[in-house]
Amino acid sequence: MANRAETLDENIFTIADLKREGSAKMIKAHRGRSEEKYYNEGAMEMESLLDNEQAYRRYKIRPRILVDVDRLDMSTDIFGVKSSNTGPFPLGFSPSAMHKLAHPEGEVATSKAAASQGICMGLSSYSTTSLEDVAAQGEGNPYFVQICVLKDRRTTLQLLKRAERYKAVFVSVDVPVLGRRLNEMRNNFVLPEEMEFPNILSNGKAEFSGDNEATAYGERHSKPSRNCMLTAVDASLKWDTAIPWLKANTKMQIWLKGVNTAEDVALAIQHELDGIVISNHGGRQLDGIPATLDTLRECAPIARGRISIAVDGGIRQGSDIFKALALGAQHCFVGRVPIWGLAYKGQEGVELGIKILMQELAITMRLAGCARIEDITSAHLAVLTRDGILAKL
Ligand code: LAC
Repeated sequence: MANRAETLDENIFTIADLKREGSAKMIKAHRGRSEEKYYNEGAMEMESLLDNEQAYRRYKIRPRILVDVDRLDMSTDIFGVKSSNTGPFPLGFSPSAMHKLAHPEGEVATSKAAASQGICMGLSSYSTTSLEDVAAQGEGNPYFVQICVLKDRRTTLQLLKRAERYKAVFVSVDVPVLGRRLNEMRNNFVLPEEMEFPNILSNGKAEFSGDNEATAYGERHSKPSRNCMLTAVDASLKWDTAIPWLKANTKMQIWLKGVNTAEDVALAIQHELDGIVISNHGGRQLDGIPATLDTLRECAPIARGRISIAVDGGIRQGSDIFKALALGAQHCFVGRVPIWGLAYKGQEGVELGIKILMQELAITMRLAGCARIEDITSAHLAVLTRDGILAKL
């Protein structure tokens, strides 16, 4: 049939293929069990990591027929950037650390791919490329920068100042301490000697300030002389101190990343923040926390019309994006997908991951009877209950 989906790569047809092929090529940045990769693992038993993916399978799509889906418009807006059918799309990259572990071109290749596909990119402050070099690859697609508020406020401040070309700052609020990642402990994870964190260290070199458990990549993985994530996160942050400080020190939009309860959505609205990301840090922080899709269902009705809301975690198919949008997310982010793409084939591999997801989303939308992003609503979903009954939402 002429309108059959296009084959993009002879080996890779799904994100699962990209994960398999990309993971096989990842450098061994740690010793120990070879099946464990820094990026692919989570905290403790990895219950939340797996549940993030499985939650999408609990929802089924209710397609409507005889809807005009000839012209598809997948554009949306984020950070006040509105545009035509060229994006931004409801898909973007979650910040993830150290892309040079996946590919020597690191975040520059990721950024080029985001730019060529017109999607939003989040840059981790623990990136192995400077935020100026990453933004320089942009072609009008929006960028945001992730930060942790560090005990050493000067370091956080200099990052906020340097990031003024970015549209938003996403503050990670789920890392007062680092989750207990057994794979990193077993494999003695450290950043390779030749890599640096040019965004959190004014001279590109780390100062050892790992004096408490909040140390981001703490004592357990690092030697004092090594250039590692040693800058301590401020675990004493509270709404009433952190938010005014952030607002006083940046003009960028401020989003909180790592919101997981309706109570905290209400507080984010009360503190007049710009957005929230329902995120459990890809299952890398608190194990046993619900799948983000389930949390989204609790949080989206509170956020609707009051604060922007995005979700990440477990998105592996275009139909997953459809389901998250139907449950009220305005934007979906993927963290591991660009990493697998990078490891597979650099910029081209990242583009492949985006194209697969967008192609799948386009087909899902057409088959479900939705011609525009705003046509996707909870009426297009049913949930499969434990006793096998399909229930409308
Ligand atoms: C992680 C940190 C960098 O999840 O956020 O590895």
